[in-house]
Amino acid sequence: MEFSYASTFSGKESFGCLVLLFPQDRVRAPAATTREVRENVRRLAALKDFTGKTGQTQLLPLSSKTIPRVLCVGLGEVDKLDREQLRRAAGTAAKALRGLELDKAGLVIPKTGAASLRQDFGEIIAEGMALGGYTFEPYKTQEDNGKKPRKSLARVALLDPDGITSAKSVRQGAARGDAVNLARTLGNQPPNYMTPTQLAKEARQVARKRGLKLRVLEQAELEKLGMGMFMGVARGSRQPPKLILMEYRPRGAKGTLAFVGKGITFDSGGISLKPGQAMDEMKFDMCGAAAVVGAMDGIGALKPLVNVVGVIPACENLPDGNAVKPGDILKSYAGKHVEILNTDAEGRLVLGDALAYAIKTFKPDAVIDLATLTGACVIALGHYATGAITNEEKFLDQVVRAGKASGDVVWPLPNFPEYAEALKGKYADLQNIGPREGGAITAGLFLKHFVGEVPWVHLDIAGTAWGVKGIGHIPYEGATGVGVGLLIDLAKSWRKGK
Ligand code: BES
Ligand code: MN
Ligand code: ZN
Repeated sequence: MEFSYASTFSGKESFGCLVLLFPQDRVRAPAATTREVRENVRRLAALKDFTGKTGQTQLLPLSSKTIPRVLCVGLGEVDKLDREQLRRAAGTAAKALRGLELDKAGLVIPKTGAASLRQDFGEIIAEGMALGGYTFEPYKTQEDNGKKPRKSLARVALLDPDGITSAKSVRQGAARGDAVNLARTLGNQPPNYMTPTQLAKEARQVARKRGLKLRVLEQAELEKLGMGMFMGVARGSRQPPKLILMEYRPRGAKGTLAFVGKGITFDSGGISLKPGQAMDEMKFDMCGAAAVVGAMDGIGALKPLVNVVGVIPACENLPDGNAVKPGDILKSYAGKHVEILNTDAEGRLVLGDALAYAIKTFKPDAVIDLATLTGACVIALGHYATGAITNEEKFLDQVVRAGKASGDVVWPLPNFPEYAEALKGKYADLQNIGPREGGAITAGLFLKHFVGEVPWVHLDIAGTAWGVKGIGHIPYEGATGVGVGLLIDLAKSWRKGK
């Protein structure tokens, strides 16, 4: 979706549809629109069918050739209008426009909401529309199978006659939307296409486009480095594993953040094979990696003043004659031995080695990992909030705040050391699973063994990476791109020593 910004609106420009956003119970068209628009909105308001409630939309056909339709979208209660509420309304608008045969829409920036938020309206609305307009259909070739949505909206003009926001704000929102949509597409691609090799190619493309440094460590090197846990998982697959390293280093930056993403491009469970039911969804087991690639793209475009490194361990988890078995003991990069009791608990193995490597190599001031790590997290929190485990409450607070601003909501899980007792191994330092109960917590605490003293937050996105109810800007199906917005906001707001 391409966005343009105009500080004027004469009513003479032609748009396939004009979008208007209304706070609840304040359904009045802006003065800058045409008489026909204002009259039709007045009639709509009088009918009280549309009151501006959250999620409400109403399409009005007009007689005008320049503006043949108006789409009215509810913003909900004005005193509750925050970034996410506005982002959702913009997403709802883009979804409502999807089915229409139009090439270009206009949207009037509404004169409403808190003064502190208004300057960012361009950013929030552009991001929300880019997200709501997202579709994934490279494999739907038949126009008439009834399932392929029509051509999606290509161009949106944001009209700002009241001077509320700016062209720069709009550009930033578009960049954020593109970054999240990139993560969605990486996640949605089928696992026969999105292999570790392909994921490395995608990361290289982003690095080229954004001027980032990129390195990919190959199997031989990873073995030499002693990444026994990562290599243990990878060795059941014909696809070679990759450790993808991306570096964003702006001039004058103070401090370094590391983002580590789980990149299991397909998780069959390995020898501890998963049941067949919905196993196809395990193509999404690289959504943590997708979030890191998306965030590096967004950060490369928005240029915050902090060093950011992205680290992605990518491989498949498959059963094979050479695959890791229950009972096997692997030696981690950090030196600890781990007894494998269930080969389906593979995410913590690849992440444990990647975290230790990231910390040793890049010496970050703080680390976040994102992973579709446990089914238990989905049971605990459902599909709305991402679960978090930390070793440093102050850093977690910053992550929670970035989550709220971006709409990627985070909820802390308890990390009492008593939970970690269950991971003490019978025959090795550690074992890779604890009891089923509290499984999201023990998985997080397993990772804690590999981060040492560096402030760290683990985000379990198993419930939020896909299968989420498609409200507002979230897609009706497939990958959500969760985490990208949070990481971008964290990179923008994080300060060394704070
Ligand atoms: N990728 C899965 C976690 C998952 C499952 C995410 C379902 C989303 C939906 C992970 O690798 C896994 O298999 N975890 C196991 C751990 C268990 C064996 C301790 C799980 O959650 O069942
Ligand atoms: Mn698994
Ligand atoms: Zn997995």
